[in-house]
Amino acid sequence: MRIDIITIFPEMIKPMFNESIMKRAVLQNLIEINVIDLRDYSVLKHNKVDDTPYGGGAGMVLQFPPFYLALKNLRNEQTHVMLTSPRGKTFNQQRAIELQQKQHIIILCGHYEGIDERVHDMVDEEVSIGDYVLTGGELAAMVITDALARLQDGVIKKDSYEQDSFHMGLLEHPHYTKPFSYEGKEVPEVLTSGNHKEIDRWRRYQSLKQTFLKRPDLLNGFPLDKEDIKMLEEI
Ligand code: ADE
Repeated sequence: MRIDIITIFPEMIKPMFNESIMKRAVLQNLIEINVIDLRDYSVLKHNKVDDTPYGGGAGMVLQFPPFYLALKNLRNEQTHVMLTSPRGKTFNQQRAIELQQKQHIIILCGHYEGIDERVHDMVDEEVSIGDYVLTGGELAAMVITDALARLQDGVIKKDSYEQDSFHMGLLEHPHYTKPFSYEGKEVPEVLTSGNHKEIDRWRRYQSLKQTFLKRPDLLNGFPLDKEDIKMLEEI
């Protein structure tokens, strides 16, 4: 997958590809990421890309031509174009899984109340990362890129990925590491038993419990099997 992120603040986004899993994913060509400065497509002097709003009012508005020219240059038939905006549909894991199939994604970083409306007409999808307003779409683009990158083959261990799908729709079970006992707080015995069937059962129970207690809304429409229902009755 290739993701092109178009922004007026490329330096805000680039550092996320210099650390940890994202750095390795890019170095190993498991995903291609290009962070593109919208100013490269400026049609005004001094690489300016915004102007005063028609009809008056405070603030500046990002112009249509730079976005138009950037898309004209970068988009092909397979490209899926997203615009970050609080008025978009809320991004979630299900949407990340659907988008994982795309060969090429362009993310345009929007600016709330600050982007020419004609840009909205050129995109396939407006996407929000939650019901709150950010100063710009850069953080949203980073969130979406991270969620998509970790789903690409080879980026994270297959185990973690399988855990994801096993728990899809449920919250994860708790994790523990050494020491076994510290300041009177101990690790649940079952995890040291070596009995993998029991460990899986414990994890499923904990996953259901966390979800029931913290995000009961996620259980609506979740395909519970007989064993799950029995476990939920135990909580
Ligand atoms: N831009 C400003 N707020 C946003 C949000 N919640 N999601 C995506 N883009 C945004």
